[in-house]
Amino acid sequence: MEYEEPKFFHVMQYAAAADGDVIDMVSGNPDWEPPAALREALREYADLPPDAFQYPPSEGLLELREAIAERRNVDVDRVVVTNGTGEANYLAMARAFERDAGDEAVLTDPVYPYYPGKVDMLGGESTFAPTERDGGLDVAAIREAASEDTALIVLNTPNNPTGAVYDLDAVREVVGVAEAVDALVLVDEVYDHFDLTGSFESALTLESDRVLVTGGFSKSMAITGFRVGYGLFPEAHVGDAKTRHMLVNVAGARPSQYAVHHALAETPPEYYDEARELLAERADAFTDALDAAGAEYSRPEGAFYVLARFDGFPGTMANVKRLVDEAGVAGMPGEAFGTARDEWVRFALVTPRAVEAAERLADYFGE
Ligand SMILES: Cc1ncc(COP(=O)(O)O)c(C=O)c1O
Repeated sequence: MEYEEPKFFHVMQYAAAADGDVIDMVSGNPDWEPPAALREALREYADLPPDAFQYPPSEGLLELREAIAERRNVDVDRVVVTNGTGEANYLAMARAFERDAGDEAVLTDPVYPYYPGKVDMLGGESTFAPTERDGGLDVAAIREAASEDTALIVLNTPNNPTGAVYDLDAVREVVGVAEAVDALVLVDEVYDHFDLTGSFESALTLESDRVLVTGGFSKSMAITGFRVGYGLFPEAHVGDAKTRHMLVNVAGARPSQYAVHHALAETPPEYYDEARELLAERADAFTDALDAAGAEYSRPEGAFYVLARFDGFPGTMANVKRLVDEAGVAGMPGEAFGTARDEWVRFALVTPRAVEAAERLADYFGE
């Protein structure tokens, strides 16, 4: 299998090797504390009897699956706990392709780069549908891109990299497109806790047997290293997902699932509110500074990211390296996210130095 190393590794390595002080706005790793209950549960875990150190049920600890089912208002049988949202996305995509319903996936452009990577790995073909300029879902473009060969349509809301939160009616229309061509719709909701508009509605509310929703705790609990995510699969697809998960992984990591379960039970809503407020403040300060830099940008409605366009400075890898060397700020080249935003640079707001970075950009471009 041919696979190009993700561009973010390349930028991170370049930034780490740079001479000067560089503010990292590349990765999507939260920089704040995980829930206190998660740390407590981990401490407790070390003293549990030996059976706590053995395989958990392949589909995930029952108490965790029950807690997810309750929060997401679905039957517990539909929940598969996975090694991050990334694995849940893979399970959903693999299911879509194995139905003999075609080998094409319709993805949005800009796109989270692991989606086309996975489609490719599964032997599928990616077809890209542009989003609106503000990142909103362009249903007509998706309808145009879909064909009899389409097995899968992938949506991500709140969105990486545009920060858009999709309108549920638009998602419903996309499900209509999927019905017409016998495709499944994967909706990746890993940023569901980071809806800055208050308008996010899960695709689960559509109650469609074509919609496979994925999510996880990497972002909401600031634990990207724990690898706990989940897929919520309709009845017709959940058996396949469980089998594939078992054959690939045997099971997920028990201590991680245990700690997430405790954190879910004991973390007050204020924990999530504080993280969201922190991001909203950073988004405001960062975009104010982008105004000062004369940049065009997408104000994030959700997730962690701002896409910015500086006149005469396209978002190529070479220009991103220039920003590292000359401005001391590392972002992601827009060309890493498909073709629609190759003029743009993506900045992740998950650093306490976001405001300082914005000032550096304002100095650099404002001159
Ligand atoms: C859109 C999207 N989906 C999935 C993931 C991976 O999430 P997880 O750590 O839960 O596998 C990311 C991580 O940045 C993401 O941005």
